[in-house]
Amino acid sequence: MKTHTLLMPLDMHLHLRDGVMLETVAPLSAYSFSGGIVMPNLVPPVETLEDVRAYKERIMATIPNDYFEPYMTLFYKNYDKKFLASVSNDIMAIKLYPAGITTNSEGGVSSFNIEEMRETLEAMSILGIPLCVHGESDGFVMDREAEFMSVYELLAKNFPDLKIIMEHITTKEAVEMLDKYKNLYATITVHHLIITLDDVVGGMMMPHNFCKPIAKRPEDKEALLSVALNAHPKVMFGSDSAPHPQDKKESAGCAAGVFSAPIALQLLCDVFEKHNKLENLQTFVSDNAQSIYKICPEFKEIILEKRDFIVPNIYGTVVPMYAGKTINWAIQSVE
Ligand code: DOR
Ligand code: ZN
Repeated sequence: MKTHTLLMPLDMHLHLRDGVMLETVAPLSAYSFSGGIVMPNLVPPVETLEDVRAYKERIMATIPNDYFEPYMTLFYKNYDKKFLASVSNDIMAIKLYPAGITTNSEGGVSSFNIEEMRETLEAMSILGIPLCVHGESDGFVMDREAEFMSVYELLAKNFPDLKIIMEHITTKEAVEMLDKYKNLYATITVHHLIITLDDVVGGMMMPHNFCKPIAKRPEDKEALLSVALNAHPKVMFGSDSAPHPQDKKESAGCAAGVFSAPIALQLLCDVFEKHNKLENLQTFVSDNAQSIYKICPEFKEIILEKRDFIVPNIYGTVVPMYAGKTINWAIQSVE
């Protein structure tokens, strides 16, 4: 049987939620990943040192037997230098959301006024705290990411020592931006390597493929594949696995988010194998993140095997991507 081994896989963009949902989803990520960057868009958002420490404890309490490092984040506000210095050892990054752009982002940034942001972003540059950005404008849904490129340029130019991560990129415009500024990096999800808008609304509407940013055109997917499959040194895997209860997805107003965490590595093996690039998956799913974020995860070895695996219909109250479908790879063992 064909197998593929991955060491210390990392999920550099992950929603773990809280309460019962956290108890359902955190063990699934902890099983197959060594660690992950945990998004702060709870209600209310994670925005104090106490919030960060308490949330980390609640996460750790759900994963007693597996080793998993939750890399914590704060929800971006114009924090002052003193506060940032006091939290810098407890967080891995700060996540910036434009106000109202996606789930639980109401308290985000409403205008990108560089002077108002300067103290915070300069302090983050000095302290070495990366800025993770949900890069979408408030324009037409298919153009939102491309329109946001001017904001990335403004940030990258004004704060050359700030590490800026373009989160879950979905367009060729974002891929082109990677090599334009030395301080711009990106995460890519597995679903954006597989689906386009056609898989969301091209036939019957597929709520479990609906997320922000929405999946785009075939040429955008090709651009994402070109950097992911070749493990471009500035891109990392980040699932953006975003669980919502079934009734919030299969409803008249469908919440945005694809729940992919339990099948992410299996799907990545499939995509990389189909393109004869399995040898680059390790770099995409761990090594690049280790060098970009300067992290050194504890040892974990995942062996995947090429065999049919039927994706469960539901985990707790959450329907995963490809629920009930057969995928081509499965996890054989984890050590
Ligand atoms: O689809 C999404 N879901 N995109 C985001 O940016 C947020 C996420 C969520 O928290 O549900
Ligand atoms: Zn996200």
